[in-house]
Amino acid sequence: MSEQRYEGRVALVTGAGSGIGQAVAVRLATEGAYVVGCDVDADGLAETEKQIVDAGRTAVTVIGDVSVQADVERIVAALPDGRIDLLANVAGIMDFFLPVTEVDDATWERVMAVNVTGPMRLSRAVLPLMRTAGGGAIVNVASIGGLTGAVAGTAYVTSKHALIGMTRSIAVLYAADGIRATAICPGGVETNIGRTAVPKVPWAYERLSTSFARSTRTAQPDEIATLVSWLGSAEAVNVNGAVVTSDGGFTA
Ligand SMILES: NC(=O)c1ccc[n+]([C@@H]2O[C@H](COP(=O)([O-])OP(=O)(O)OC[C@H]3O[C@@H](n4cnc5c(N)ncnc54)[C@H](O)[C@@H]3O)[C@@H](O)[C@H]2O)c1
Repeated sequence: MSEQRYEGRVALVTGAGSGIGQAVAVRLATEGAYVVGCDVDADGLAETEKQIVDAGRTAVTVIGDVSVQADVERIVAALPDGRIDLLANVAGIMDFFLPVTEVDDATWERVMAVNVTGPMRLSRAVLPLMRTAGGGAIVNVASIGGLTGAVAGTAYVTSKHALIGMTRSIAVLYAADGIRATAICPGGVETNIGRTAVPKVPWAYERLSTSFARSTRTAQPDEIATLVSWLGSAEAVNVNGAVVTSDGGFTA
């Protein structure tokens, strides 16, 4: 494995202001990538930029909401000469563990907008650039909530199953263009996602709690970032459409 495997390459990372996205942005930059990081959180992005600069690299950050088409256009416009080798769709939010009988429309729509529509808008924007260039990779950070109903509320579980479906569709439709799409399903990771993970319906959370006992460990963000980096690199040339768990064995 080359430590500078992204030298000369361009990566776009969403959710780059915190947690997994921040770890991905910093890792890719230290592996040589020109990173464009976006987030709605300006302070988080500033911290990411600082970490990248401290590592001796430069970064471009854009404050933007992945669910808003105009913002996506601004984010993609920050790519140098329209070049992109890797899109890492990391931005995502939880759903307060709401069961379908209790979910409010605002939560449902926001979770779908950020976790599904955002990756679609980014993919739709960058795939033509990748096709023109003759290749590229998309790595979507889904969740084990994309494989099982036992870890979150209905909106989050639905959104992550949808993101895996989107990944597979892109993998099939653009393989002939030299483009690969993969998804990662982390289990618990120590990040700031707790902001949208406060349980609001005690009975539902209690029913889900039995499955949490299956968790063997909580991961650090960089343990997921290293997988994003490998899946997005040329070393993973034969990996397309794969859904890879990184959950310490939770779903095993
Ligand atoms: N932490 C976990 O246990 C865990 C487990 C499985 C999957 N995931 C997934 O990992 C991804 C990253 O989450 P995290 O745990 O690092 O959480 P986090 O809250 O630490 O980071 C998510 C970042 O996304 C940003 N963001 C939210 N909405 C956005 C939007 N509309 N546009 C742009 N940026 C936006 C937030 O501001 C934040 O900086 C998410 O997709 C999440 O579903 C997390």
